[in-house]
Amino acid sequence: ARRDALPRDLEGRHVAISAGGTREPLDPVRFLGNRSSGRQGFALARVAAQRGATVTLVAAHTADLDPPAGVDLVRVGTALELREAMREAAKTADVVVMAAAVADFRPATTAEHKIKKSDDRPDPVVELTRNPDILAELVVHRFPGQLVVGFAAETGDAEAGPLEHGRAKLARKGCDLLVVNAVGDGQAFEVEHNSGWLLSAEDGGASATELPLGGKAELAALLWDAVSKKLEYVPP
Ligand code: CTP
Ligand code: CA
Repeated sequence: ARRDALPRDLEGRHVAISAGGTREPLDPVRFLGNRSSGRQGFALARVAAQRGATVTLVAAHTADLDPPAGVDLVRVGTALELREAMREAAKTADVVVMAAAVADFRPATTAEHKIKKSDDRPDPVVELTRNPDILAELVVHRFPGQLVVGFAAETGDAEAGPLEHGRAKLARKGCDLLVVNAVGDGQAFEVEHNSGWLLSAEDGGASATELPLGGKAELAALLWDAVSKKLEYVPP
């Protein structure tokens, strides 16, 4: 894409984006993690910077990605670290985007020393504690005019399809926009088949905007289009 072909509609705006997967330590050498690559969050940051925004990118563990040019990159490990970094960035952000895969649970305790196996003690059981819901917290603490965006990967199940799950999550989280990716859903597991929708709190997600199959930069562009439309609207 030609750089000068992009709109500069985020000029003067500060956006804070989280990306990647958190890692929750069990001991000094082990962790609970997830498969998030961070690619979507990095694409969001890159496109936002190209459209003129000041970008804070809070990155948990990611694949070996080139950091986008011209963004302020903050590296974090755990969900609690990501929460602190996003809280700080959100103080001045016009838009906050939670694209990170945050571990829902962390080990209740982190062993100070490497956990050893032992023949005369029973095998250990990992007790888990719930991590805070960072997106929901950012929604609670948002200032007037600040936009908060969430992501959700949903499969259908016996109760509802991915879109219905997305609408319920939008309501539960209270964010302004929610990107819903339909994953799996009876299709082959390996297929990188991400169709999705963009839901807005304005109408409770009723008018789901379809996100056509495309690259992560295309999805980023569509999300920033929606965000910049919302930023333009100043309530009387
Ligand atoms: N999220 C968050 N903090 C958490 C968990 C999730 O901020 N502890 C954010 C994610 O970054 C994402 C959104 O919430 O933007 C939805 O994440 P998801 O895992 O789909 O939602 P959960 O509320 O954790 O629900 P589920 O039980 O379906 O995992
Ligand atoms: Ca979750």
